[in-house]
Amino acid sequence: MSIAPTETGNKPVSKGQFISFEGLDGAGKTTQLALLQRWLEQQRISYVLTREPGGTPLGSELRHLLFGRSDLAISPLAEAFLFQADRAQHFADVIVPAIEAGKLVISDRCYDSSIAYQGAAQGVGIELVEQLSLIATAGRSPDLTILLDLAPSQVHVRTHDETRGEHSRFDAESLSFHQRLREAFLALAQNHPERIKVIDATQTPEQIHHQIIALIQALRA
Ligand code: TYD
Repeated sequence: MSIAPTETGNKPVSKGQFISFEGLDGAGKTTQLALLQRWLEQQRISYVLTREPGGTPLGSELRHLLFGRSDLAISPLAEAFLFQADRAQHFADVIVPAIEAGKLVISDRCYDSSIAYQGAAQGVGIELVEQLSLIATAGRSPDLTILLDLAPSQVHVRTHDETRGEHSRFDAESLSFHQRLREAFLALAQNHPERIKVIDATQTPEQIHHQIIALIQALRA
């Protein structure tokens, strides 16, 4: 989905809050972000919708390097650094200024993706990627992370059904790669139960949407 950082609405929250969405490719984030955007606009809630990688001009270039250059060899460690470079710029230029301006910031993925994809599934190491993420974000974490959880067998069906102009580096990876990813995301959720909320992504889009709204309302209450 091509999301440039977008801003709308006119009701700033008193203190900015930061929400990230996570999940395997094809877990339904795109659909849920569109439904959430519509709801936020109806509620006249001021928000910034952004994404990793690609939430800044540098991020767009890095995104092209990561996903548009199949001719380029990128080692797992180099890949981990590229995602962190995207993140460092994203936090500095988009996320932190918006939080400080009292906005609700929503990011399609954040550092939990690096921990799961590069740290666990690509084998760079969870602790190393956690440390790199801490540096890139200057220690900031989302206030709420919504993890759309789906079995890898379901993900394959959905990913291949989708018509997207750009293919993720990981769409064609094996079932065991996606299984490692899912386990890493679920382990993160277990270790951070206050922050990371797991939603069963086999439910209908409407059911999932209502659960997301309930979580956001609880955060803002
Ligand atoms: P995207 O097209 O945004 O996929 P999706 O719609 O599934 O979010 O591509 C993002 C891809 O990059 C996705 O496969 C996850 C991966 N990724 C990482 O491997 N590490 C990261 O730190 C981030 C943010 C994303």
